[in-house]
Amino acid sequence: MKRKLRMGMVGGGLTSFIGPVHRKAAGIDGEIELVCGAFSVVPGESKQTGEALYLNPKRVYETYQEMFEIEKNMPPDQRIDFVSVVTPNHVHFGPSKMALESGFHVIVEKPIAFSVEEAKTLQKIVAKTGLILGLTHTYTGYPLVKEARNMVATGKLGKIRKVFVEYPQGWLSTLLEGTGNMQASWRTDPKQSGMGGAIGDKLGKHKPAPIAVGMIGGALAGKALWDMVFPPAVPPEPGNGPDDDIPVEVFLRDQQCGTRLQTAHSQSVYRVGYRFKDEERVAELPYDPGEALLVGAGGEITGPARKRLD
Ligand SMILES: NC(=O)c1ccc[n+]([C@@H]2O[C@H](COP(=O)([O-])OP(=O)(O)OC[C@H]3O[C@@H](n4cnc5c(N)ncnc54)[C@H](O)[C@@H]3O)[C@@H](O)[C@H]2O)c1
Repeated sequence: MKRKLRMGMVGGGLTSFIGPVHRKAAGIDGEIELVCGAFSVVPGESKQTGEALYLNPKRVYETYQEMFEIEKNMPPDQRIDFVSVVTPNHVHFGPSKMALESGFHVIVEKPIAFSVEEAKTLQKIVAKTGLILGLTHTYTGYPLVKEARNMVATGKLGKIRKVFVEYPQGWLSTLLEGTGNMQASWRTDPKQSGMGGAIGDKLGKHKPAPIAVGMIGGALAGKALWDMVFPPAVPPEPGNGPDDDIPVEVFLRDQQCGTRLQTAHSQSVYRVGYRFKDEERVAELPYDPGEALLVGAGGEITGPARKRLD
């Protein structure tokens, strides 16, 4: 191809986090040009972003629906080739679907969608149209991850029995969402970030399959810790015994001091073991793919907890 690829963007307003990273990454090899965008839901911010990026104002849109409607009817030598979708999680499926149906390739931030059904819908459109949908599981490009992959592939580590990944992050350790912080606000709202919340967002989706993600809540040293328990996103393989662990991640919050703790867990078909900083507890949890459970102070199940308790 003797020209640059023309890129559009959905999300990525001036005050956003990952959109500017996508723009920088797209610019690295000089083969991509950003030509249009529907950058924000904040009134006026899409326009400001377009101005800051020196885009043609006619190609800076208020909504992605408007953008795809107009772009798909442009002459082939002007319209975009692909779109980068860098909105919060609940706005991944809509723009990705509409972009594919408008004839554009898609790069979408993880998670691909909110449900398996949505993901399968996209898969069908990709199969039908032959367009590319790329999902940015960026950490797979990290040198350490590549090195680990190589060590596994060349047998240096022998047979892999278990993969254990930790990803400590501190920026949500205070109630940042209460201050109006945009990134914190949607990540702590399951309606916008998804069932797994921030844990599912950052920890679960970047990990190699089949690492499952769950959340567990309970009490620690008499303090009211809470959260939801979600069964693993990837159900245990049939035939797994109680000792065949599936790693899950856990998110806890201490209501009294507002601190959040993250800890690594290990779940089998019948049992969840959860470990805090300096103590060890084991709760017996039946595996039920449809249920969320709340765990009490002594590890007992106190009932389904489908919503946050704060
Ligand atoms: N791959 C990674 O390492 C990585 C890192 C951070 C974030 N992410 C993902 O990137 C996505 C965005 O995260 P972020 O931290 O940049 O969020 P953010 O809150 O900083 O930015 C989201 C942007 O999308 C805009 N937006 C929201 N709804 C929109 C709509 N309907 N139309 C147009 N614009 C809209 C917002 O106004 C904002 O500009 C998330 O899905 C997140 O999981 C991935």
